[in-house]
Amino acid sequence: MDPVFGAQFGDYQNEIYLGGLSGVLPTMPMVFADLEERARAAMPPSVLSYVAGGAGDEFTQRANVAAFERWGLVPRMMVGAARRDLSVDLFGLRLPSPLFLAPVGVIGLCAQDGHGDLATARAAARTGVPMVASTLTVDPLEQVAGELGDTPGFFQLYTPTDRALAESLVHRAEAAGFKGIVVTLDTWVTGWRPRDLATANFPQLRGHCLANYTSDPVFRARLAKPPQEDPQAAVLEWAQIFAKALTWDDLPWLRSLTDLPIILKGICHPEDVRRAKDGGADAVYCSNHGGRQANGGLAALDALPGVVEAADGLPVLFDSGVRSGADVVKALALGATAVGVGRPYAYGLAVGGEDGIVHVLRTLLAEADLIMAVDGYPALADLRAPGAVRRTT
Ligand SMILES: Cc1cc2nc3c(=O)[nH]c(=O)nc-3n(C[C@H](O)[C@H](O)[C@H](O)COP(=O)(O)O)c2cc1C
Repeated sequence: MDPVFGAQFGDYQNEIYLGGLSGVLPTMPMVFADLEERARAAMPPSVLSYVAGGAGDEFTQRANVAAFERWGLVPRMMVGAARRDLSVDLFGLRLPSPLFLAPVGVIGLCAQDGHGDLATARAAARTGVPMVASTLTVDPLEQVAGELGDTPGFFQLYTPTDRALAESLVHRAEAAGFKGIVVTLDTWVTGWRPRDLATANFPQLRGHCLANYTSDPVFRARLAKPPQEDPQAAVLEWAQIFAKALTWDDLPWLRSLTDLPIILKGICHPEDVRRAKDGGADAVYCSNHGGRQANGGLAALDALPGVVEAADGLPVLFDSGVRSGADVVKALALGATAVGVGRPYAYGLAVGGEDGIVHVLRTLLAEADLIMAVDGYPALADLRAPGAVRRTT
């Protein structure tokens, strides 16, 4: 799919129905539940457990998904929504749709060839859906950036305790052409994840997805021997410096590292939005990390309206629990500027490779577009108008 502006994403269904006339049936699932089931069979157990699992008994992970059921779009008729416009402006970038690929460390391992970061970047290039590349990748960020084509990419930073290393990562991302830095705030320590604990499974400690560190001159200078000669020492060093427990006092320093937009990920409280704004952040990213970090908390969607209100015009990115085009529409109607896809594309990759990610994105966009058509909301601004969405319970 070319990221053509003005393209009707809903046309994907015509492609599928017409294919059926010549005997071509879709090989990829159409809904998340089927995708997840297929991924279960396609992924090695350790990768599946890491991707599918969350914190505690996974209450918050389920709540993220369930929260979408409590909101409904109010249909409007006689609008003539024959053409829809899903394009958005973000940091001066004009994007064909409001979707983006959320950062998923270990996405590299979700691909059958072990290079899922590159496959994700290629899917971004084909769809115009921006990729937020994790700090934790199989292939270094420069190679990931090299596959993005004309689609903008963002770099997600886990801020190391070593400031020089943080600076090096940000400057490398800048030099590689990434268009913004997403600083993840909720993962300076790993949440309690029973599924992974039960099998003592933590991919990075097994040496996976550390390419951005092992390729970094500042990180390498910390090691007595090159990582290829003593991989175990590199892993232990990584574990020591992985992430700093940031405070608001660190924001001016982060801000000073780059002129690129800074997006703070993990913001759910209106007061934190105000502090982010005061500190010069260019956007906030409302997310609870898909329920992977702290269990028992609020669904991310339930935090979104308060975040949007406090943001008062500052862009708000959102993820956690998005499983369908209907979910995308609801998050937009509740004020998200852009909506992140997480686990669905990891499963799409595991089942169908790069094409699998493209399919997942196209199904989300097609369903969102067709809902906007049927319900009479031709543009995102219409969705965001008061009264478009209503709480059902
Ligand atoms: C396997 C996995 C790895 C993740 N790795 C990262 C990461 O490296 N950096 C980050 O900021 N968020 C990471 N996330 C969180 C996602 O960016 C996103 O917030 C989350 O997947 C949204 O929840 P959902 O997938 O259930 O919709 C990860 C999520 C998953 C499932």
